[in-house]
Amino acid sequence: MKFFIDTANLEQIKEAQDLGVLDGVTTNPSLMAKEGITGEKNQLQHYLDICEAVDGDVSAEVISTDFEGMVKEGEALAALHPQIVVKLPMIKDGVKACKYFSSKGIRTNVTLVFSAGQALLAAKAGATYVSPFLGRLDDISTDGINLIEEIRLIYDNYGFETEILAASVRHTMHVINCAKVGADVMTGPLSSIEGLLKHPLTDSGLAKFLEDYAKGN
Ligand code: G3P
Repeated sequence: MKFFIDTANLEQIKEAQDLGVLDGVTTNPSLMAKEGITGEKNQLQHYLDICEAVDGDVSAEVISTDFEGMVKEGEALAALHPQIVVKLPMIKDGVKACKYFSSKGIRTNVTLVFSAGQALLAAKAGATYVSPFLGRLDDISTDGINLIEEIRLIYDNYGFETEILAASVRHTMHVINCAKVGADVMTGPLSSIEGLLKHPLTDSGLAKFLEDYAKGN
């Protein structure tokens, strides 16, 4: 299972990279805005900085909602750095653009996926990654993990190679449940990765080991 961090914050990306378990980064326009990265030039530079900071795929999202615009933006993003994956919204022109990019060998991440049907379309269009948003489904009393399971079943039935990138992961139980149902990748905040470390018996056990060691020395 790959671990991506879902942020445009360079400090957090570097912290996750230093831990040695990071496989990539996902960003979106909201996350870029949160870091105060505005304007095309600054955004492109920020993507380059992210690519420098991490070994692995970096999803960069297009802003256009029409096919021509997505193609223009996506080609520029893909040309920026080999680690860039073009992130496209799950709308009609996004599906068309996904098919276009896959025929050109440009990697894609189809985002804002909330149903198995949308995930099936993304796979048919040759998406490298599909991003079902499980936290946002949980927010509206719909089981997000259930969607990941459905997509896993459908992709396995037909041998689709599109990787299931569980997105909108908010906490450690999302990560664990994604692992149980076979998501290929999860993307979440740094806290969802670092939270996996925590167990009180680890802390108390280590304290005891160190205390006993000190007694014998
Ligand atoms: O990867 C998608 C993600 O950025 C959305 O997360 O927490 O805003 O639903 P959230």
